[in-house]
Amino acid sequence: LPTETEKMMRAHELLRQFYHHILVNTNKGQEALEYLQQRNFTREIIDYFQIGYCLDEWDTSLKFLKAKGFDEDILEKAGLIIRGEKNNTYFDRFRGRIIFPISDYKGNTVAFSGRVLGNGQPKYLNSPETPIFQKSQTLFNFHNARVAIRKKQSVVLFEGFADCIAAFSAGIENGIGTMGTALTEEHIHLIKRNTDQVILCFDADMAGQNATLKAGEMLSNAGCVVRVAIIPDGKDPDEYIIKNGAELFKNVVIGGSIPFMSFKMRFFRIGKNLDNEGDRLAYIEKVLEEISKLDNAVERDIYLRQLAEEFSLSLDALKQQQRKIFYSIR
Ligand code: CTP
Ligand code: MN
Ligand code: MN
Ligand code: MN
Ligand code: MN
Repeated sequence: LPTETEKMMRAHELLRQFYHHILVNTNKGQEALEYLQQRNFTREIIDYFQIGYCLDEWDTSLKFLKAKGFDEDILEKAGLIIRGEKNNTYFDRFRGRIIFPISDYKGNTVAFSGRVLGNGQPKYLNSPETPIFQKSQTLFNFHNARVAIRKKQSVVLFEGFADCIAAFSAGIENGIGTMGTALTEEHIHLIKRNTDQVILCFDADMAGQNATLKAGEMLSNAGCVVRVAIIPDGKDPDEYIIKNGAELFKNVVIGGSIPFMSFKMRFFRIGKNLDNEGDRLAYIEKVLEEISKLDNAVERDIYLRQLAEEFSLSLDALKQQQRKIFYSIR
């Protein structure tokens, strides 16, 4: 007899196929298919990621799964249906949304995320935490990307589904997504079992930049070598690829990624006026503090020289101050 876990995974698998079928083969999926095509999702990509569409109806998924022999209680536990106000009435969680299947690291479909067509709220509706889905342990596309991650010995981390998928279309096969949540120690553990080289490619907006700083610190502390891909013009990777094409994304954005320390030297000047002496001193002090955290003496030397050159300071003075900070923070 199947266990509850097996039943919940089987329900997800059947529903994934059902949603995909509705999107690609039926009239009711036409509008969603056009929305995806207008966003540059090709048929090949829709198949590869098994993207689907759920009808804007109250209990289509419930009826579909009941006909396959599933009970309401297991479907509710799996996060697929919701119990209504009146006892024993249930309705589908996902209605009228594009469906992105989410799999665990073994490749079982364990959750869905549903995007509205166009501008509605919430933009993405996700499965809740269930016995088979923990957000803190799940990375979008990890199962598919694993071979490429090991082969390239590096992973590219995105924040969104669309970014991860657009990057894959552009030839970045070692990309995974955090699905908008903060990176956790469990995520890092999963990554480190495959590689310790991580390229962060989050949105260029302030939220994305703050998340880059946080994720970069956590990954560095866990012993990863972190680089950051810079996206110009405040865009996200998906928007960049649509506007500038795959080649520039691969060669300039990903290929031109900068060390995490260089990212921090850019990040800490945001909101500062470096022509102002107070701001300039505060900035230099902050960068020296960051340099002090580097274990590698050669690296420390590189950034100290950069700082000396940019602000026309003596390297000796900077080194002296850096050592002072080093002893005061350890
Ligand atoms: N997200 C979410 N719930 C929301 C908004 C966002 O779970 N209401 C997650 C999604 O995984 C999303 C990621 O956070 O992919 C990044 O959010 P955002 O940058 O706002 O969305 P995009 O990925 O750019 O989505 P799209 O391109 O489809 O607009
Ligand atoms: Mn198909
Ligand atoms: Mn974002
Ligand atoms: Mn985005
Ligand atoms: Mn986007």
